[in-house]
Amino acid sequence: MNYNKLKALVQKARTTRRFEKDGIVTIEDLREILDVARITSSAKNMQPIKYILVTKEEDVLKLAQTAAWAAHLKDWDQSEDERPSAFILMLNDQMIDGFPMFDVGASFTAISLAAKTKGLATCPMASIDKELCKKLFVIPDCYDIMIGIAIGVGTEKVELVDTEDFDTNYYRLEDDTHCVPKRSLEQIIVGEY
Ligand SMILES: Cc1cc2nc3c(=O)[nH]c(=O)nc-3n(C[C@H](O)[C@H](O)[C@H](O)COP(=O)(O)O)c2cc1C
Repeated sequence: MNYNKLKALVQKARTTRRFEKDGIVTIEDLREILDVARITSSAKNMQPIKYILVTKEEDVLKLAQTAAWAAHLKDWDQSEDERPSAFILMLNDQMIDGFPMFDVGASFTAISLAAKTKGLATCPMASIDKELCKKLFVIPDCYDIMIGIAIGVGTEKVELVDTEDFDTNYYRLEDDTHCVPKRSLEQIIVGEY
């Protein structure tokens, strides 16, 4: 792995919201992906993030139907045929004195990159229905549900573009390409000394 290959992988590991209807994601796939995530950096190395893996079709369907997809796209919602094939729920184990907001981000990055290497795409979902999760799965009170990650075989074309007028809202082109504006180095580097 060199710099260009790593950058290309990060460029390709985009949030995806349209998935292959019959795409297959197994528990073993999710376990392998998590085997990468579990070795990411953790504040004080406390590792408070725990996971629930979901591939059961009826549960995946319920989670997908109740989440909010692409808040910026007012005239689009995910259809039945575009559902993901799996979810990972990320939980903070509150019995562990950690720094979960950092750890969950570090873990998600590893999950999205590992998924990409397996031909899978991800969508982190703060809008996951936490009450529904508590009904569907056994989640002891000490676990705070932080975020869900939808996973499947992506079918949409996603491109990174430069921001225009500092606008970071994603949008779709007429040919359905999903465009994600990113700030330039000049816009994010506050100082170089
Ligand atoms: C913490 C977090 C929560 C998110 N929650 C949602 C969500 O509920 N629904 C959704 O469609 N996308 C969600 N996203 C995806 C973002 O919209 C996406 O990351 C952003 O548009 C940039 O695209 P990129 O990930 O391809 O760079 C979330 C992303 C993050 C990091």
